[in-house]
Amino acid sequence: MSSKILIIGACGQIGSELTYKLRALHGDDNVIASDISYNNLDIVNSGIFEIVDAMDYKSVKVCIEKHNVDTVYLMAAMLSATGEKYPMKAWDLNMTSLFHVLDLAKAKFIKKVFWPSSIAVFGPTTPKEDTPQYTTMEPSTVYGITKQVGERWCEYYNEKYDVDVRSIRYPGIISWKTLPGGGTTDYAVEIYHEALKNKEYDCFLSKDTALPMLYMDDAIKATVDIMSADADAIKIRSSYNLAGISFTPEEIAASIKKHIPEFKISYTPDFRQQIANSWPQSIDDTMAQKHWNWKHSFDLEAITEEMLKQLKPKY
Ligand code: SER
Repeated sequence: MSSKILIIGACGQIGSELTYKLRALHGDDNVIASDISYNNLDIVNSGIFEIVDAMDYKSVKVCIEKHNVDTVYLMAAMLSATGEKYPMKAWDLNMTSLFHVLDLAKAKFIKKVFWPSSIAVFGPTTPKEDTPQYTTMEPSTVYGITKQVGERWCEYYNEKYDVDVRSIRYPGIISWKTLPGGGTTDYAVEIYHEALKNKEYDCFLSKDTALPMLYMDDAIKATVDIMSADADAIKIRSSYNLAGISFTPEEIAASIKKHIPEFKISYTPDFRQQIANSWPQSIDDTMAQKHWNWKHSFDLEAITEEMLKQLKPKY
């Protein structure tokens, strides 16, 4: 029998593209997309779709039993910027949903779990350049706290209860199909939309704020690769550092100007500047390279070319 997959949070930026990719790999009938509402009609109409509330254990369990699911990708979360506005909601959603899925795996309703962590697990006391896998982690956002604690729980469930949970610390993800929502790295997607629409962008981070980023195709490839690797190869059961590229708003603007010379960028840093300042500027992902052969493909110029090409027809 082929594996049955449930994606929780399938309407979101990463969940939606993961749904398309997993359907292409495993067949439409084997991939169940779910979210709390019908807020992405492309996904809702693209195949099997269920309303699942990740905060409600029964809602998750019923869906898993109904479809004989054995693998869950838990992509529902409140990100860094929104989390600072609603700290307790972020804590509740990010932790409760994780415990539901880990407990369902512990009780053997499912066999395998993917749960994304983030560069937000790092904080102001973490070394900023080539941030190592194992280092000081004192996150200063609620989102980062939930991801750091979540990593500890993933490792704990793996060691104590033999739960096959796998995780990646995603950097900022750049993509054109579904907009990101509520993150600090969202500027690197908004900038392409505004460049095409208005030929100008007012950035909420300062021009020299370097952050680690990754193109969606690379992020999806990493997710598929870590999930299809042999269990023995996954030696880190908290979460893997993952690097792609690093750039500043000034550098992304320069790469856009090569295609749209009249593009103008201005800078009005807001509360998200402080979040960005607390995160690494670049990441050392040697462990992911060694353990499951990770390698990124898209550099900044390739991302800009692809983003402008894909978004152009929309404007
Ligand atoms: N993209 C996320 C955020 O900005 C980081 O994981 O919150």
